Amino acid sequence: MSTTETRRTDQEILDRTTQDDIDAIAAINPDPDAVLHEVQDQADAIFTWDYEKGSRPRLDKLYEKAKVSQWNAQTDLDWSIEVDPLKAFNIFTEASNVNTGHWTEHPDSPAKNWGDKEWDQFSVESFAWRLSQFLHGEQGALVCTAKIVETVPWIDAKYYAATQVVDEARHVEVFNKYIDEKIGVRYPVNPHLQLLIDDIVNDSRWDMTYLGMQIMVEGLALAAFGLMHQVTTEPLLKKLLRYVMADEARHVAFGVLSLQEVYQDMTAQEVRERQEFAFEAGIRMRDRLLQQEVWDRMGCDVKHAVQHGLNIPDEDQIFSQLLFSKIVPNCRKLGLLDAGDGWLRDRFTEIGVIELEHLEDTGQEYESFTLDEDAPLPMEQ
Ligand SMILES: [Fe+2]
Ligand SMILES: [Fe+2]
Repeated sequence: MSTTETRRTDQEILDRTTQDDIDAIAAINPDPDAVLHEVQDQADAIFTWDYEKGSRPRLDKLYEKAKVSQWNAQTDLDWSIEVDPLKAFNIFTEASNVNTGHWTEHPDSPAKNWGDKEWDQFSVESFAWRLSQFLHGEQGALVCTAKIVETVPWIDAKYYAATQVVDEARHVEVFNKYIDEKIGVRYPVNPHLQLLIDDIVNDSRWDMTYLGMQIMVEGLALAAFGLMHQVTTEPLLKKLLRYVMADEARHVAFGVLSLQEVYQDMTAQEVRERQEFAFEAGIRMRDRLLQQEVWDRMGCDVKHAVQHGLNIPDEDQIFSQLLFSKIVPNCRKLGLLDAGDGWLRDRFTEIGVIELEHLEDTGQEYESFTLDEDAPLPMEQ
């Protein structure tokens, strides 16, 4: 490690007193009814006069694949299917592997006295919350990818990113339509997700957009869509998720393939800043998964519920760990885990996700995603 490297503490990176600062984590969106949200985008727009298509063959291949993989959210899905939100998705089923007892029986659980009525309501609220955060995350991806079109200096990446902008518009459209027509319950953006997306948009360094969005946010989304696809038996949602995932696998690959090239030439200090950014993003996403808005809507004390969520024993964290199943192997492939003194490896060990590092990375996985509903997904094989 270079001696000139600047080291920031976890508290400085996260802008809070401790990693598990309950007051900061339990924050609720301060302005849930606002229609617009503005963020300063500080990056330079870059033109290139090097138009040679295919000078980055792996990005060119991705672009060609994207062009023949487009689908139409309005006509390729059967919107006449009726959906019962209570039956469509329940996180507390065997398939999702969640330790139900921590919430239903534990003496500290805010839900220990709930009956069937409360659990049914929670199930619908929690489902609507998940879909709503998918929706807002998709808009984040739409904005970030448009930014990449502007800021990346390579023509093959500009071409590919342009196809991703269309993909993300379709994803916003499809999740909004599903929430609107089939669920009827929605949530504002979670403050931790918003904080992360704001940081990504605000950063002037173009590769940070890729790291924040393509590797971290979309890596988590790909895993979350996969888990929901596995648990749900609702046919419209199942097909919708399969279609979205086929796109997302390309998006995560775009991040991995682009950053591999960029990171090769970085100094130790520059890599360290990327490690810190990946850690910050990881914590923001861990915090967002505590779904404080749902506990609030259920009438629970939010700080109490968040604390109880953080207290889940490590061995029962399977669900949230699996959400990092794309992020950690991809950070490993990019060399971020062990660069310098292995700082990011230590941080990912602390938040209990390092065991996922040897799963397959997502540089090529997109090739095995298909829209054929009978074919198993790569993560279900
Ligand atoms: Fe998307
Ligand atoms: Fe995406």
